[in-house]
Amino acid sequence: MKPLVFALPSNDEMAERLTARLDAERGRAEIRRFPDGESYVRIDSDVRGRDLAIVCTLDRPDDKFLPLTFLATAVRDLGARTVGLIAPYLAYMRQDTRFRPGEGITSAYFAKMLSLHLDWLVTIDPHLHRRKSLAEIYPIRCAVAHAGPLIADWIRAHVASPLVVGPDRESEQWVAEVAARANAPYIVLEKTRLGDRDVRVSAPDTGRWKGRTPVLVDDIVSTARTMIEAAKRFREAGFTEIVAVGIHALFAGSAYDELLSAGVSRIVTCNTVAHASNAIDVVEALAKAVDLNQRRSSTM
Ligand code: R5P
Repeated sequence: MKPLVFALPSNDEMAERLTARLDAERGRAEIRRFPDGESYVRIDSDVRGRDLAIVCTLDRPDDKFLPLTFLATAVRDLGARTVGLIAPYLAYMRQDTRFRPGEGITSAYFAKMLSLHLDWLVTIDPHLHRRKSLAEIYPIRCAVAHAGPLIADWIRAHVASPLVVGPDRESEQWVAEVAARANAPYIVLEKTRLGDRDVRVSAPDTGRWKGRTPVLVDDIVSTARTMIEAAKRFREAGFTEIVAVGIHALFAGSAYDELLSAGVSRIVTCNTVAHASNAIDVVEALAKAVDLNQRRSSTM
């Protein structure tokens, strides 16, 4: 029997495309809120004995977590054989240590809570900084797809003479890979975050790169302060065309407009989170990660 692909609200387009690519069938469910804000879930498809994937990108995760886990619990309750999650953006990965005494390490807590309801997880470039792999906190089978090659191909196709720029030392490894595939040089900046919206970024001497277009590349754009401060350094150094490329377009509040106002000529993101800036398609990369995951288990 073909696997069934369910979608949380706002994930239908991604779910439709993945269903077609994975030769699966769409699962149908009604998921809505009661007038008082509580969640309602009703499964329309016959899930008995079936292998399931739920598509739910996890930006603004607090509102999504309960409907997602209700859906996963309900399908299991109704006899589903396996339940996996395709989350193009995986939330809560950045709080991976106790930066200040008393803080909760929410990446680990979120992983534990989510894993209670799932057999497997597929995502794109989770923010792995102090951790090497999702396996350190997710006890379920995980497969990760990477947007780096897609970003590199986009740069090659759209920027004539790029200089790939990583915002901080941690980004060096993947920025170097993007630059190599884009056939471009790269530099990394020094970044210090002092608060949610207080970021300091310093650039090395960029004089030798005059005539190139800086392409700022980061995994997550949230407040956009990292990109804004990086763009400012290049504006100050006399660069007039600056491109910003992010994987996950979180754009908190007015971050997108603020980044445009900071003098960035173009903002481009992957469609892991739906946004007007989406220009790089990750569906095939996600589907390949699901295929890989499937091969590892022989069930979806
Ligand atoms: C942090 O380590 C990430 O790689 C991003 O640089 C960060 O999440 C960007 O956040 P913001 O847009 O709020 O500066």
